[in-house]
Amino acid sequence: MEPIASNPRPGHAGPIPPLSPEVAERLARVLPAGEWAVHAPLVEEIGLLKRELGAVILAHNYQTPEIFHGVADFVGDSLALARQAARSDAGLLVFCGVHFMAETAKVLNPSRTVLIPDPEAGCSLAASITAADVRALRRQYPGAPVVTYVNTAAEVKAESDVCGTSGTAVEVVESLGAERVIFLPDEYLGRWVASRTEVELVLWHGHCEVHERFTGEEIAAFRRAHPAITVLAHPECPPGVLAEADYVGSTAGMIDFVGARRPRRVVMITECSMSDNVAVEHPDVEFVRPCNLCPHMKRITLPKILESLRCGVHAVEVAPEVAARARAAVERMLAVAPRPGARP
Ligand code: 13P
Ligand code: SF4
Repeated sequence: MEPIASNPRPGHAGPIPPLSPEVAERLARVLPAGEWAVHAPLVEEIGLLKRELGAVILAHNYQTPEIFHGVADFVGDSLALARQAARSDAGLLVFCGVHFMAETAKVLNPSRTVLIPDPEAGCSLAASITAADVRALRRQYPGAPVVTYVNTAAEVKAESDVCGTSGTAVEVVESLGAERVIFLPDEYLGRWVASRTEVELVLWHGHCEVHERFTGEEIAAFRRAHPAITVLAHPECPPGVLAEADYVGSTAGMIDFVGARRPRRVVMITECSMSDNVAVEHPDVEFVRPCNLCPHMKRITLPKILESLRCGVHAVEVAPEVAARARAAVERMLAVAPRPGARP
């Protein structure tokens, strides 16, 4: 692949400054030298352009290491990125994650330009439900408030009372003071929340195509093959997986767990890039790495980020009326503090 940094960019004649030694050192810990040689010029060019444009790059924990460690200004789970997007005063936000995340950033900060390097970066959960489905459920269960996971389109959020993330779902459900709540669209997250609250939940049949592939038998096999392993699982996994886990929580919760507890050997039952990104910070922890890849997250690449900055593509737009109602639901969620994850 021809390094893009060697192509002169219109309006930019000077040399591209080299990567900071700190970034280079982190990336060398996770990327083989051959791969690094391909990424380095792109990382440098993106860094330069970002500074020139006053842009900020937000990246989800599932982004590849060259994005997560190489070009992101802020990394985190859906909740942390939504908070960061809401408070950012940068004129240009480039969102390295899937479309619903970029849309949430736009909804929370409508005066900013929010770009997503690939607008096709979707999510099986977001695709599982429409605004019309939510309206139909409201008719079926009159008076029951609606909590939607942030992994939904803005039109679906707009039909909701409040949103929730994997880090806040239990607290959000309980904050409503209702006996029965409609919880959408992730069935497994809903079942996990239901196991931790007295509130009756009406669930939908959405699943994450990445997490639903893990099985309880697989986790039991990890335990047999790797004695004294600590199992961390995302609540989008099926109940059989969560029953085998030592800790269940959001991607940020899992990262915090490793930082605080320093297990000798750990397996993160979630998307592939998590372990790669977290292992960079914890050379003393052994990571067993089962790999279920999110094809949507992986649509975001360094060349597409560079293109996004160079050409101002692809701007995320949400109709103002939809954005206002979705914002109210997300802001209600942001007002609810997360509680640390725990065994189911
Ligand atoms: P988190 O909010 O835990 O980062 O999860 C987002 C996601 O898409 C999980 O599949
Ligand atoms: Fe959606 Fe699952 Fe990918 Fe997360 S990992 S973005 S829930 S498909």
